[in-house]
Amino acid sequence: MVDGIASTETKHRDSHAGERGKAVFSPPIPAYHDAMETPSQILKVTVWRGGEAGDFATYEVPLKAGQTVLDLLGRIQRELEPSLAYRYSCRAGVCGSCAMTVNGRPRWTCRTLVSEVEEQGNLEIAPLANLPVIKDLVTDMTPFFEKWQKAKGRFYPGDTEKDRFARIRPDDPKRKAIDAAIECIGCGVCFSACDVVKWNDDYLGPAALNRAWSLTNDVRDGGQLERLRAVAGSGGCRACHSQQSCAEHCPKGLNPTAAIAGLKREIFKAALGGKL
Ligand code: SF4
Ligand code: SF4
Ligand code: FES
Repeated sequence: MVDGIASTETKHRDSHAGERGKAVFSPPIPAYHDAMETPSQILKVTVWRGGEAGDFATYEVPLKAGQTVLDLLGRIQRELEPSLAYRYSCRAGVCGSCAMTVNGRPRWTCRTLVSEVEEQGNLEIAPLANLPVIKDLVTDMTPFFEKWQKAKGRFYPGDTEKDRFARIRPDDPKRKAIDAAIECIGCGVCFSACDVVKWNDDYLGPAALNRAWSLTNDVRDGGQLERLRAVAGSGGCRACHSQQSCAEHCPKGLNPTAAIAGLKREIFKAALGGKL
């Protein structure tokens, strides 16, 4: 049997996020009770509460085998803090909606085991950095998706209904380049991990540029020059410093840095050919 606690202990969010204010959020003292459980370890979990000017609240929760960070939040919400806000959908690494900052590092929480990330019984969960906080662990993804739009990250049909389907061989180099970049789930982890996104509001960011690179390799797409122009500006791929934080953190193992390098090559070729 374990008593859950909520405290007014103050800590500050990870280094990516910077300080978001020092107001103390004081949740009601919860009554956590589970007589059927004999936990081997009690975790001290600090969770961001409130908006931009919020603060951390602390809960004590038993560590269980196979428990993900998302499971842990569900438990806190069910048994300790019903007003806790967080976002998820698939719980299976598909939808990209559950990303948060866990012990200072952006991660997908539905596929992150608590046992692999807790540090000496401590876990800190905060919203993704580089995005506005709506409430608790929920960020406003609007700036992230607006940058996809700015990078022309959608398919522009190049054929008419009367044209035959394009035939693309699986071993075609362009098809292979698409394969390497296509599995993005739009989680925002790379966006949160990118230092340039943090200090350059205009920067389109790794996910939008990765998407642009996928489409640049799509021979069916009719918006190629328009897209290259969109990503060639000062907020485009040349703002990237190629330090690879995006690639290091991407939960799908994608490499937006390589995608951005590919875009730079295409822009260079188009400029040499007098097209840009
Ligand atoms: S390599 Fe470029 S996109 Fe990736 S984190 Fe660094 S600056 Fe951002
Ligand atoms: S590139 Fe990776 S980290 Fe970035 S949004 Fe896509 S899946 Fe998430
Ligand atoms: S809940 Fe869908 S990816 Fe985590």
